[in-house]
Amino acid sequence: MEIAQSLQQIQSSYIREILSAASDKNVISLAGGLPDAKTFPIELMKPTLESLADMPEVFQYGSTAGYGPLLTHLTKRFQLPDNHSVMVCTGSQQGLDLIARAYVNPGDTVVMEAPSYLGAMQVFGLVQANMVTVSQTELGPDLKQLEQCFKEQSPKMFYAVPDFHNPTGVCWAIETRKKVAQLCIDYGVALIEDAPYRELRFSGEAIDLVSDFCPDNSIVLRSFSKIASPGLRLGAVSGKLSYLEPMIKVKQGADLHSSVPMQALLLGLLENDNFDQHIDNIRALYKQRYQKLYSELESKLPKNCELKSVDGGMFVWLTLPTCDTFDLAKVLLSKGVAVVPSPVFYPNADSAEAALRLNFTNSTLEELEKAVDCLAAELKEFLGK
Ligand SMILES: Cc1ncc(COP(=O)(O)O)c(C=O)c1O
Repeated sequence: MEIAQSLQQIQSSYIREILSAASDKNVISLAGGLPDAKTFPIELMKPTLESLADMPEVFQYGSTAGYGPLLTHLTKRFQLPDNHSVMVCTGSQQGLDLIARAYVNPGDTVVMEAPSYLGAMQVFGLVQANMVTVSQTELGPDLKQLEQCFKEQSPKMFYAVPDFHNPTGVCWAIETRKKVAQLCIDYGVALIEDAPYRELRFSGEAIDLVSDFCPDNSIVLRSFSKIASPGLRLGAVSGKLSYLEPMIKVKQGADLHSSVPMQALLLGLLENDNFDQHIDNIRALYKQRYQKLYSELESKLPKNCELKSVDGGMFVWLTLPTCDTFDLAKVLLSKGVAVVPSPVFYPNADSAEAALRLNFTNSTLEELEKAVDCLAAELKEFLGK
């Protein structure tokens, strides 16, 4: 049977391939975006796991928007404006898919930063969007390029990851946030603010969401994968009701609703008195790992490689002199270190700067040190060729 045209242009995910190679016990993986499984708050979930046995109602079909008590909790937790609603989805990835299917026609323009989140490029590729990119600076998107793009291409939406971007780790400055919000209002562009790493800040002060400055022009995606567990497959999407209603319709067709027992489990976890402490613990662990990776890289890398510091999230972005980063990643994998080469994060791979995405959340300090030793040695050899 011939596959759909929309799928023919989608490349099989390089990340998935590299992740399967990286699952080899002898490989140190800086490739994935995995939280450390030892951080999963199983103990905090135990009381709810036990009480689920006495809650037959959560094993019945539920409502598409989500489990009522969880929606009430999330509305308060996210301090949503009165005219906004929240819907639970099967990971924030599903939220992104619902947005694309509810709003994007083939050929509609969707703007994103380059580099960008691979899963978003897949979703927008599947609905045959015209993906247009603007460059990213240390403060967020290049505002001149963004305005020109809004003016000339009348995009439908701007997809953004302002907090600890995947893959670069960049966190947008407050001034950039305000300016982007204003541009979205001025040019009638919907902002899709994807915030799965927001809670993983380990230094500096929390900054307002971009959507706080344009609440009625935006949809916000949140995830419980990084602060609870990705296997729960729970995320949330919020915005004004008129934005959410079409997505609820699409979700009905997609999966009727997300698993209710899992939603009840998440609610128990969020209401647990020790949940905030759990997040503090994750932040402290990831900060320590980030600092180790950063200091190792800083002291051992060749001088023509450029490393930017981050204040949170899961990744650092290592910029290299022009070279074939796919080749480099292959060599590194053969030496026992998995990394992700930059071109996979660009809708147009030819425009990619040479760089590697390095994850620091799922390796021990010893593994990080070993990985950097290998990376530094191979880079000297590879770039010297
Ligand atoms: C930017 C971004 N958005 C969305 C997701 C998907 O997260 P979830 O597990 O909630 O589906 C990820 C996962 O890594 C991500 O990096």
